[in-house]
Amino acid sequence: MTPFQKRRQHLASLLGKGDVAVVPTAPEQSRNRDSNYPYRFDSYFHYLTGFEEPNALLLLNDQAESILFCQPKDLEKEIWDGYRLGPEHAPQTLGVTQAFSIDDLDKIAPAFLSNHESIWFPFGVNPSMKDHLERWLEEISKKVRTGVRAPHTLKNACLLLDEMRLIKDAHEVQTMQKACDISSLAHIKAMQFCSHAIKQKVDIKEYHLEAELLHEFRRHGSEFPAYTSIVAAGANACVLHYRADKAPILSGDLVLIDAGCELNGYASDITRTFPANGRFTSPQKDIYECVLKAQEAAIAVTKPGAKFSDPHEASVRVLCEGLMALGILNQSAHGNLDDVIEHRKYTPFYMHRTSHWLGMDVHDCGSYVQAPNPDTPACTLAWSELDPLKPASSSTQPSRTLQAGMVLTIEPGLYIRPSPDVPEKYWNIGIRIEDDALITPNGVQLLSRGVPVGVSDIEQLMS
Ligand code: GLY
Ligand code: MN
Ligand code: MN
Repeated sequence: MTPFQKRRQHLASLLGKGDVAVVPTAPEQSRNRDSNYPYRFDSYFHYLTGFEEPNALLLLNDQAESILFCQPKDLEKEIWDGYRLGPEHAPQTLGVTQAFSIDDLDKIAPAFLSNHESIWFPFGVNPSMKDHLERWLEEISKKVRTGVRAPHTLKNACLLLDEMRLIKDAHEVQTMQKACDISSLAHIKAMQFCSHAIKQKVDIKEYHLEAELLHEFRRHGSEFPAYTSIVAAGANACVLHYRADKAPILSGDLVLIDAGCELNGYASDITRTFPANGRFTSPQKDIYECVLKAQEAAIAVTKPGAKFSDPHEASVRVLCEGLMALGILNQSAHGNLDDVIEHRKYTPFYMHRTSHWLGMDVHDCGSYVQAPNPDTPACTLAWSELDPLKPASSSTQPSRTLQAGMVLTIEPGLYIRPSPDVPEKYWNIGIRIEDDALITPNGVQLLSRGVPVGVSDIEQLMS
């Protein structure tokens, strides 16, 4: 059985008796006129089918019977747009029970949905789904006089699929490791290209490093970057969502690269910050060592049974210690370490969370809040009750408990903008270090350490 068949069986087992799930893939997105953006399937749909073509939809009932609707074979269309699997080959290739042309969806779906109880579909994902469902339910209601029963409830399939996707199976872990390996090679390539260019006195800009990353991703079979690459030279590193732009990279600058490839539908997400010329200055090293220590503290508490918020809290404590030791936050103005943490005095320098789930999507699905008991999905709690961004200690809703198979990033940083309160030698230094962590039965495994993080390891790599 393929991983996709196993997942369909698992989802079927989570549906109520007589329920059915409807999972469409993503629509194509027009860029302008007849040109589209590069096509990316919907993650939920791909998770259940492994099928990459657009214009497709999966129906699945509680008996794990599956119907795939897909584009019909059409020589004329295939000459222009490429090969189509077609419904004739789908059962054999994808292991679905039956397959039909997507052109017959409105004819077949109402009959399949009739006499079922609840319809599960991913809420808020595909805008056309509600129209489809309206039409199908209307068709079914017309047949009620013949004894047909209409489904009575619409349910959010994300409640089930998010929890499934949160725990990665062996196939997913293997793919994510490969994605991280490729991204690690790309980071190394960009670092070495950078120091080489600076030493040769060749003018380079941020986009030259982006080009190295993209070349390395694609060369190893990655389909896309998992998100827009950030390549930020000097002060640009203090802009959190900066992208690779055209600023020159100068000797003496730090360069922050946050870039990861997508491979077979899975994201990697790595950040490294390095000196453009291959040698950290003393103030750069001060800040870098502080962020690295914060990351080490976060990694040390990342294990099964810990809370999602634990790595963040561990990072914040070490970052605050560092900010105080370096005179960036001073005790006379801000109080002692506990005061600084409690009153969040660090937020001018560290304003984001340390972690997010990682998987098919870079900010992957899955609740960040622990359900009160195992039978209550966290997503059914009232949102007003939840504040997963607050530390566990001050939040009424506990942060999610980490479990083997979860993957999260660990990405502390410090971003120091010019300010009369901060020693000038630290102005415009922006540093983030980001790794991808798999929770294992006994602890944690970093998937992204194909690219080093230590000061001397980076200097050696770039020498
Ligand atoms: N690259 C996006 C993030 O680190 O969350
Ligand atoms: Mn990230
Ligand atoms: Mn990132």
